[in-house]
Amino acid sequence: MKLLKFKWQQIILCLGCLLLIIACQSSRPSTNPGAKLLKVATDPTFVPFEIQKADGKLEGFDIDLMNAIAASAGFTVQFEKLPFDGMISTLQAGKVDAAISGITITPERLKTISFSRPYFKAGLAIAVRENNQDIQNLNSLKGRKIAVQIGSTGADFAKTIPNAKISTFNSGPEFFQDLLNGNVDAVIGDAFATLYAINNGQLKGIKVVADLLTEEYYGIATSKSSPHMDAINNAIATVLSNGTYKQIYQKWFKAEPPQLPDSP
Ligand code: ARG
Repeated sequence: MKLLKFKWQQIILCLGCLLLIIACQSSRPSTNPGAKLLKVATDPTFVPFEIQKADGKLEGFDIDLMNAIAASAGFTVQFEKLPFDGMISTLQAGKVDAAISGITITPERLKTISFSRPYFKAGLAIAVRENNQDIQNLNSLKGRKIAVQIGSTGADFAKTIPNAKISTFNSGPEFFQDLLNGNVDAVIGDAFATLYAINNGQLKGIKVVADLLTEEYYGIATSKSSPHMDAINNAIATVLSNGTYKQIYQKWFKAEPPQLPDSP
């Protein structure tokens, strides 16, 4: 009899443990078990769009937006860090499903990859050393030494400046360092990234001159044969209309987002 009682106590204890385990499992943040894994390339050297923290974690406007898009479309995102220059060929080779990296939608790029509807209004700007008085506008860049990021729209723009001597770099931090070192006279790069870095004290000694050189829009890129573009576009429409986009924009830019066109 005593033995039987002990067994009952054991059974109740085991059931209790089982319930506790089930409760813990269901309260764990789940990554939507049925969700499709989406490998998304990004070059995290571009404040405030994609930034790599000291512990290796990624953050930024694009990262927040991509996560919101994934949540809406039922994807689980896995970010893959890649140099900006290799992103288009990596997409074409099918090694990643998509790329988000402040990538400007251009007619040239549309020949080889697909873009989502525009998700950010951007443009190029000229940056010089703070004490530079000679370079005030585009005209004064003729024949100057200019640093740009390899494979960027800034690099394409610099090629159109008569007699400019262009140095190419893999990332923003490198070409700004070259400017600070006095090796080049100016940098042509994305205005929002440059202004954000200046305003946050990350580019001491550098200023932006003149108005924006271009009007550009960023899009999420996939290969031409991707089955995911419709889902991505629908999710962008959802986050634009339900206030999520506005919230992310305000978090990073402390401003109201501008109107965006609805096709690339
Ligand atoms: N918007 C420019 C382009 O598409 C530069 C983007 C650079 N992005 C980056 N994550 N480094 O060419």
